Amino acid sequence: MSEAKFDFGLIGLGVMGKNFILNVADNGFSAIGYDLDQEKVDALIAEGDSERVSATTELSSFLDQLALPRKIMLLVPAGKPVDAVIESLKPHLTKGDIIIDGGNSFYTDTDRRFDYLAKEDIHFFGSGVSGGAKGSRKGPSIMPGGDKAAYEHIKPIFEAASAKVNGEPCVAHLGNGSAGNYVKMVHNGIEYGLMQLISEAYDLMKNSLGMSNAEMKEVFEEWNSSELGSFLVEITADILGRKDDEGDGDLVDAILDKAKQKGTGKWTSQNSMDLGIPIPTIDAAVRMREISSFKNLRGEASKLYPKTEASVEVTVQNIKEGLYLAYIITYAQGLQQLTEASKEYNYELDLEVIAKIWRGGCIIRATFLEEIRQAYSRNSELNNLLMDSQIAEKVNPLIESLEKTCSAGMRQGIPVSAFAASLNYFNAFRSDRLPLNLIQAQRDHFGSHTYERLDKPGIFHTEWED
Ligand code: 6PG
Repeated sequence: MSEAKFDFGLIGLGVMGKNFILNVADNGFSAIGYDLDQEKVDALIAEGDSERVSATTELSSFLDQLALPRKIMLLVPAGKPVDAVIESLKPHLTKGDIIIDGGNSFYTDTDRRFDYLAKEDIHFFGSGVSGGAKGSRKGPSIMPGGDKAAYEHIKPIFEAASAKVNGEPCVAHLGNGSAGNYVKMVHNGIEYGLMQLISEAYDLMKNSLGMSNAEMKEVFEEWNSSELGSFLVEITADILGRKDDEGDGDLVDAILDKAKQKGTGKWTSQNSMDLGIPIPTIDAAVRMREISSFKNLRGEASKLYPKTEASVEVTVQNIKEGLYLAYIITYAQGLQQLTEASKEYNYELDLEVIAKIWRGGCIIRATFLEEIRQAYSRNSELNNLLMDSQIAEKVNPLIESLEKTCSAGMRQGIPVSAFAASLNYFNAFRSDRLPLNLIQAQRDHFGSHTYERLDKPGIFHTEWED
């Protein structure tokens, strides 16, 4: 065994892994990387401070050079590669060692791995890392879940490497078992929702208001310095200003309108159905990525069903306010899913802490997250963000703009799935009486499924045919 012991180890020296090691080293800890690819190992050694950074293609050397308990983070693709790495590590680990999966693993895989390794007294953390390559290098938001006592070993390193907001680190122990991966999954669901809403705002400004990319860039820049300030609005302004190196014009106009997905948004939607928590804005975002993939069919259909010209009055201010309200609704949906998941899976999540660590570093960071944090600080039992009276004060003046935004899209044949899903969710949420009494009557009529009454307790059935 060599003398020098590294504080932290990382397996998988792709761009995220390399950047995370460099970030850890910049913040005062020594770190060693492991990858089978010699080029990646060499690249890290060339870039890292030799006092604090090393890398190897030899697993035994990697493990020997780590201080006990070993703290080993995996940044490898989710799925089988994570299991394969765990299998290769397991025989060589010492009781108390810690493995941290930093990928977007499905939460039930994390639970399985947690139980499997617990039998060997190895701690396993599922820990989402958000912020892309730049975040990994300069400070991501980190979402670890697992054994609380074991977290103390990784806490100083994660707190040093994470983004900071008002000096507070964008990382915290979020809860038991797969809590970290679950929270990251819902983070990504919200990310899908916000991205879709922004793309619909762009579509409306472009196709309803006839604005140029340069004009929209200015608008997004202005929005970013307002209450709508957020990483995704900021990068949208950047994107709209980028010229196309491969041709004339703007790059955004040359990009194929088919959005790919790796699955985290879909998992969020699927799981929300199991929990019985509606998140229709996120569902709409997943569905729009699916519809986008029918590029050829859409081309044919656009000839079959040409759009009619309709004059509708919508302003940039309406779209801005509509977007802000839809943002609030999207966060409300995702956070309610987390509230329910915490009960269902015993995660013991603290929603205020989650809002706090999402304020910086991650893809859904936004000025508004501080207000969300405050709402959960006022009431940690808040069932839905929209039930907070100070949030309600913000929401009420925005409703008309969201209505106008949705009607403009609908009248002009511009798809506004996420805006409309947000408004319809909101309208249902604020309806004291919904027409679902009729559904109950229908169920009882054709299937004797019974119903309850408003005026007295009990279960009732009517012989409707009589
Ligand atoms: C993040 C991102 C990151 C990844 C997305 C992309 O928080 O840094 O969410 O995890 O870029 O998962 O997801 P799709 O490929 O599904 O759009």
